[in-house]
Order: sequence, then C-alpha cells, then structure tokens
Amino acid sequence: MTIIEDVGEMGAWRGAAPTVLVPTMGALHAGHEELVRHGRTLAGPRGSLVVSVFVNPTQFGPGEDFGDYPRAFADDCALCVRAGADLVFHPPAGAMYHPDASVTVAETSLTRTLCGPSRPGHFDGVCTVVAKLFNLVRPDVAVFGKKDYQQLAVLRRMARDLNFPVEIAGAETVREPDGLAMSSRNRYLDDEERRQAAAIRKALLAAAYDTRPDAAARLALTRQCIEREAPRGEIDYLQIVDRETMAAIDEVDRPALAAAAVRFGRARLIDNIEIDPCVSSNR
Ligand code: PAJ
Repeated sequence: MTIIEDVGEMGAWRGAAPTVLVPTMGALHAGHEELVRHGRTLAGPRGSLVVSVFVNPTQFGPGEDFGDYPRAFADDCALCVRAGADLVFHPPAGAMYHPDASVTVAETSLTRTLCGPSRPGHFDGVCTVVAKLFNLVRPDVAVFGKKDYQQLAVLRRMARDLNFPVEIAGAETVREPDGLAMSSRNRYLDDEERRQAAAIRKALLAAAYDTRPDAAARLALTRQCIEREAPRGEIDYLQIVDRETMAAIDEVDRPALAAAAVRFGRARLIDNIEIDPCVSSNR
C-alpha cells in the first residue's frame, strides 16, 4: 500500500479504472473498515482503492472538537492494509488550504434541516474538502456511510449540480451489539453515557415500526423513549424528513428518514433510520 502526503503528488497520480475513493477523517473503526471493504468490492481486483485520512478544519465550528479529534494514523494504515486499500492520502494539516483560500462550495437547500442549523458552515466545509478530494483523486466512485445520511444526500446533490463525473455510493451503518452506531466520538462517553446512548437506536426503531402516517405522533413516541431511557442525553433534534430533499414532512407518505442528534456530555451523537410509507391493504 502506498502512502501519499504531498498534495501535488496526489494531483498528478492516476489510478486504474475504476478508481474508488473513501474519504475519512481517520481514527478508523469497524464502521470505516466496512466502508473500505465495500470500496474494494466496487474497485474489483484491477481498480484502485484510495482512502483519504484528513481531519478537515473547515467543517468544524468554533468550540467544536477539531483540536481533540482523535488521531491514530499508524492504526489507520494497518486497518487500510487489512481492508484492501491500495493508497492512503494523508496530507499534512496545513497543506490542503492556501492561507488566503477564498473559494468554497455551499449547499443551500438540503442543509436547512437536521445538522445544518446546529452546525453552521459544517456542510460547506464538507462539500469544499470533498470537491478538492474529487479533483485530486479523480475517482469514478466515492463511498460514504448512511450513518451521516444528510452528508451523503448533500454530496450526491453536489456531484449532480457541479457535474462531478463520479458515482456516489452509500454504505449501511455499522453498529455495536446494542445498536449504537459506531463513531469516532463514542470514545468521549463515560460508562453510564455509553449505556444510555443505545436508546437512540431503540427510539428510532420505535419511529420506524410505528405504522401511523402522522410524523409528529411518531416523533412523540421517539422522544419519550429517549427521555425515559437516556436521562443523561440532551436531544438536539428529532425529525422525520424526505429522504432526498431532507425537508421535514408531516406525513410519512414517501421514502422518509427519521434522524436524531443527542448530546451526551461533550459527545454529540447522530443516527437515523430509513422509513418507507405503509402500503395500506384493501382487505
Ligand atoms: P468520518 O466521520 O471519518 O467518516 C468517514 C466515512 O465513514 C463517512 O462516509 C461516514 O458516514 C462513514 N461512517 C462513519 N461511521 C460509520 C458507521 N458506523 N457505519 C458506516 N459508515 C460510517 O464523514 C467524514 O469523516 C467527513 O465529513 C468527510 C466526508 C471525510 C469529509 O471530511
């Protein structure tokens, strides 16, 4: 496996088709590993599989955890080798942005809900860095996790609207045995918070199994479940949105997503579940 740190060298590199890119911020866990393995399958034996490891400063807001974000590059490389990556792109912190960089990519519709209002500027930072990675690596396919469903939807929209010649592939969320979605931020939880955090998944399942079309009724049930089982959790949002536009919906009458963000101490955890409208039977 090759490691490239130099941005110019990455830009000059040309992979074998299909080239598949898996962007990450490192501190890789079993969820990322699945993503890389999925990338390997998509690249096939002859294609090139690139994993980028870069803690992108522009997607963190003031007071967020950019400085503390876990960094474990040696372990990340071991995981990438194991999962079949051909190349890891790991630019140094200051090398991705010119000090006077003044052009960014902004998404103005899908980011109005869910994490958008709680994290101003976050998705513009994500779009900008991913656009730069697309230009440097020139992938045929890029893989993103459904764990960050809004990010996946926003990047799909970016590729469409800016004509990036790349297919955006979504991969299923990998979970701990009790249902908690794997995340680099789970390590911020103490034992009690970790135990309570499993309620997020349980509450979202309650929203998904509820057959009532009324989104507010389903969300009330979800909220009750979190309040009952995770008293240490502070709900940032609980919403049911259209799966493509990310706009809030009142009735589950189309492919939808129930999504939650809950704070436990300094960890802000997100998760979601796809819900499909119930087909009513005539019998
Ligand atoms: P990061 O949080 O490191 O996540 C990298 C990729 O792994 C994302 O596509 C994310 O959705 C996926 N992922 C994280 N946890 C997962 C889990 N439990 N199961 C499946 N996939 C999971 O997302 C980012 O980095 C950044 O915003 C990035 C796109 C790299 C831009 O900087």
